[in-house]
Amino acid sequence: MTNKVTRTNKLGFKQFDTFTLNQQDKDHLLHPWQVFDTFNKDGAMPIAAADGAYIYDSDGNHYLDAVGGLWCTNIGLGRKDMADAIAEQVCTMAYANPFVDMTNIPAVKLATKLSEIAPGDINRVMFTCSGSAAIDTAFRMIQYYQNCRGLHDKKNIISRKNSYHGSTYAAMSIGGKPGDHPPEFDFITDTIHHISTPNFYRAEDYVSENYLSKKYLNKNELTEKEFLDFLLNELEEKILSIGPNKVAAFFAEPIMGAGGVIIPPEGYHKGTWEICQKYDVLYVSDEVVTGFGRLGHWFSAKDEFGIQPDIITCAKGITSGYLPLGATLYSDRIHSVISEEGKGRCFSHGFTYSGHPVSCAAALKNIEIIEQENILQHVKELSPYFQSQVRTLSDLPIVGDIRGMGMVACVEFVKNKETKERFPEEFDIGKWVSNQADARGLIVRPIVNLNVMSPPLIINRGQVDCIVKTLRESIISTVEELTIKGLF
Ligand SMILES: Cc1ncc(COP(=O)(O)O)c(C=O)c1O
Repeated sequence: MTNKVTRTNKLGFKQFDTFTLNQQDKDHLLHPWQVFDTFNKDGAMPIAAADGAYIYDSDGNHYLDAVGGLWCTNIGLGRKDMADAIAEQVCTMAYANPFVDMTNIPAVKLATKLSEIAPGDINRVMFTCSGSAAIDTAFRMIQYYQNCRGLHDKKNIISRKNSYHGSTYAAMSIGGKPGDHPPEFDFITDTIHHISTPNFYRAEDYVSENYLSKKYLNKNELTEKEFLDFLLNELEEKILSIGPNKVAAFFAEPIMGAGGVIIPPEGYHKGTWEICQKYDVLYVSDEVVTGFGRLGHWFSAKDEFGIQPDIITCAKGITSGYLPLGATLYSDRIHSVISEEGKGRCFSHGFTYSGHPVSCAAALKNIEIIEQENILQHVKELSPYFQSQVRTLSDLPIVGDIRGMGMVACVEFVKNKETKERFPEEFDIGKWVSNQADARGLIVRPIVNLNVMSPPLIINRGQVDCIVKTLRESIISTVEELTIKGLF
């Protein structure tokens, strides 16, 4: 059985010459995360059209996109109201200079709206064109802020192993995914420090023998609470070892997305935030994935996890992927320091496209749609079903862990469920499963030994059922393939 269908051209796009497209793509386009050794053989799937939660390839095959583009197509694609809002702004004014003493109406309206929906005293916004640049902006703002306070040594950053914060130089250095730090690239290493991933399923990978013996704990019998204590102790020790007067900020995604949908132990965010407060360390909540409804809130730091960050970075769902836009939202407390009058300061940072009027108009319309269609409430109602259905896959022989929250989930594949032994990394087992899913008309995102899902927030129960049923079939076929090849 397959739910992959051939396009009837109902979207009205013309037929493409996929062979030529593939060849031109190979000849001219460098993809993010292109794997050079296999790319020339495997090529890429040309995506030609999209409608709601579905995408269409250049041959007209359609797929339910359970990745939501790249965790971003929150309201679904192909909406006429979004197209109209964008077209209207293009006709009115496609561009305006945002520098120094010029501004534009959609940017002002959006900054005001974001200040309204962001928690507490986060009332200030700088716009960027991406999540990475929002992280870079936060990074530079933190340096600026500490220098304004005269704390010139307070520049070190702490983040987590396996975190992902984007791919500009600073953002990638703050990120901690080992696979993203190949030796061919350079990184900031002297002032950026990575502590453990709060992944309870893999706790034994992180808790040191030294800590275990000091606390009389057994690696294989750790409770979640003991793991949490370890994580909090580790952060505090890290701050103390660097010196609190030298630690500027802690960066954390509420849920680690690309690092494998890691839901930290209960109390982790509260605990890390309290430690940051204690040592005057700024807390940056990277909500590039979790913002704009993924967990049923505009932002999750306060509404879901009960903490008040100093800075929130966001992008992706801010326009549901219709146009590029990122934002660094920061507190009045920070602003009052950096903008102190009489100091002759200039915030010499920003971009030609900061607050681009068309992107901001798209974001305003996107937010209006989320409000008018009660999409946050829809996520609150649908996500328990999504999460419970995805967890029904746990009976399958290569499924080691299933985790998720809101409308984001992850299946971790293992060679041995008892011992949690991984398939060799070069196996790329996640890709085996996602290839099977592709062939059945479902897009899931393979990340080494994982399949990750973050579907458009507008999907319904039937589409959840389709995702889970298709993923089950894909995993079963993968197990058969592995067994035939004597690999499992
Ligand atoms: C948590 C997080 N931060 C930052 C980024 C970078 O965003 P962008 O790709 O828009 O630069 C991403 C992208 O996936 C992300 O997941």
